[in-house]
Amino acid sequence: MATPGAARSVSENEAWWKSAVVYQIYPRSFADSDNDGIGDLPGIVDQLDYLQELGIDVIWLSPVYRSPQQDNGYDVSDYQDVDPLFGTLEDLDRLIAAVHVRGMRLIMDLVVNHTSDQHPWFLASRASREAPTSDWYFWRDARPGTVAGEAGSEPNNWGASFGGSAWEWVPERGQYYLHLFAPSQPDLNWDNPDTREAIFAMMNWWLDRGIDGFRMDVINFISKDPEMPDGPLNRDGYGDGMPYFSYGPKIHAYLAEMKRRVFDPRPDTYLTVGEMPGVTPEQAREFTDREHGQLAMVFQYEHVFLDADGDKWTQRRMSINDLRDTLAKWQTALGDSGWNSLYWNNHDQPRVISRYGNDTTYWRESATALATVLHLHRGTPYVYQGEEIGMTNAPFAALDDFRDIESLDYYAKAVGTHLEEPSDVLDTLRRRSRDNSRTPMQWSAVPGAGFTTGSPWIGVNPNHSWLNVAAQRGTPGSIYEYYRALIALRHRLPVVVDGNFVAVHTGRDQIYAFRRHLGNTTLTVHANLSDLPVSFDRDDLTARDLVLTNYTPSRSGPGRLEPWEVRVHVL
Ligand code: NOJ
Repeated sequence: MATPGAARSVSENEAWWKSAVVYQIYPRSFADSDNDGIGDLPGIVDQLDYLQELGIDVIWLSPVYRSPQQDNGYDVSDYQDVDPLFGTLEDLDRLIAAVHVRGMRLIMDLVVNHTSDQHPWFLASRASREAPTSDWYFWRDARPGTVAGEAGSEPNNWGASFGGSAWEWVPERGQYYLHLFAPSQPDLNWDNPDTREAIFAMMNWWLDRGIDGFRMDVINFISKDPEMPDGPLNRDGYGDGMPYFSYGPKIHAYLAEMKRRVFDPRPDTYLTVGEMPGVTPEQAREFTDREHGQLAMVFQYEHVFLDADGDKWTQRRMSINDLRDTLAKWQTALGDSGWNSLYWNNHDQPRVISRYGNDTTYWRESATALATVLHLHRGTPYVYQGEEIGMTNAPFAALDDFRDIESLDYYAKAVGTHLEEPSDVLDTLRRRSRDNSRTPMQWSAVPGAGFTTGSPWIGVNPNHSWLNVAAQRGTPGSIYEYYRALIALRHRLPVVVDGNFVAVHTGRDQIYAFRRHLGNTTLTVHANLSDLPVSFDRDDLTARDLVLTNYTPSRSGPGRLEPWEVRVHVL
């Protein structure tokens, strides 16, 4: 055990998360045991054999804490209790035990950039400047020379992620509070040592309860530039505060303190993954460096913004060259120090197969090609529920079908302020909304998709009639069975975990090719990420060394790849 207070770095063999595959569960939409239309903890317990069969090592549970559910649990009102929607603390203990019995691990979402506005800390803070938690949030006076409470008198021009100003006026206090997300998600003031103390105590409480780590929500936002200057204006007339909080002056100090206070004194190592919008490869390297870093890995956003133009709602075509260059850049930057997380999907992203793949003609081929490319990079891969069966975006018919706070806010703004055509805005939502990934898990072809027999909180994708677990589990050639084989490859071949990464240039734009080297072993991936066949100049890849492909091996020659064909060779 490390000396408390002295920073401890994670040695190679303690870094168990390097060889792990993580599966993200969005509890609302995974499995509904009591048929109230919302997924729950007992529902997850029922499906652990399924996850074990898939080969999963770690489950990341999106928030199940007590919450008014304005942002589906990313607005916590009690960090140390389970929301009755999902079950009880005892259900969670049972889940943790059942996960551990199967040799798997479980990490929780940690949402500590902000709380819910219904958290007792905030209720007291907004009620009085004398409250013990008075200074646990960012309270500021109106801009000098303006009339407090009137539009334009906010302390600065920052816009909130879910629309409007990032400041909300509270007459009781005669001040504004900061919310980088919705007004119901006030930002915690990490500059106050008491706030940090309470957060670290809560984290320790969870680790004592037996969990294996945390996924940390927008954790790079916790340190704000104390001056909070105005930011450059965006098209809604609000300032962009990112330069002043996405890599704030104290971010390293606060994460280092967290490491010292929570993780270092413990004999075990934990999976800590920080969600970090806007993080650069160099910063990610600092955060995850084994000697001096504070986290196991971070979630960066660059590769999931390649089809966005400026903001997430404005779509452009993703170029394969950009994708290859971006992923390769991250591989190189975190090659000899630091560690990558690898993901296509999560609860905030539309389904990758509908974005970067082809969810009709080459549904199976593109799902498996994209999976292979991702999982065989150097880093820890994440599978988002339903990805392993190729779940697609949903055909939402009308605004009423959407539930997501961000999507509804965007609609109101686009139609009401930008005066866009409602039908155009709906089209945008169909392609870009986070609700695309939040439709219920498709277990079977029955009504309710085997997710619930009740009325689901968000519509089930009608393609569950053929796209479901029951149709794929045990079916040779299915996406699910392919994921099993891919995950097994990582567990079998050390080169997948530890091999270095070298990009391979084939002279063909639509091919993404790379090698991994470890000792005398070389693993080579060739993937055609397009709808057209492609020939290329390679004659040293023989069927004998082929360890994985999504086509029948005899179908094409060594120098030709069919649409979305991928081949993995190991020599
Ligand atoms: C990132 C989470 O992944 C997202 O779902 C949430 O809305 C925001 N952070 C705010 O917590």
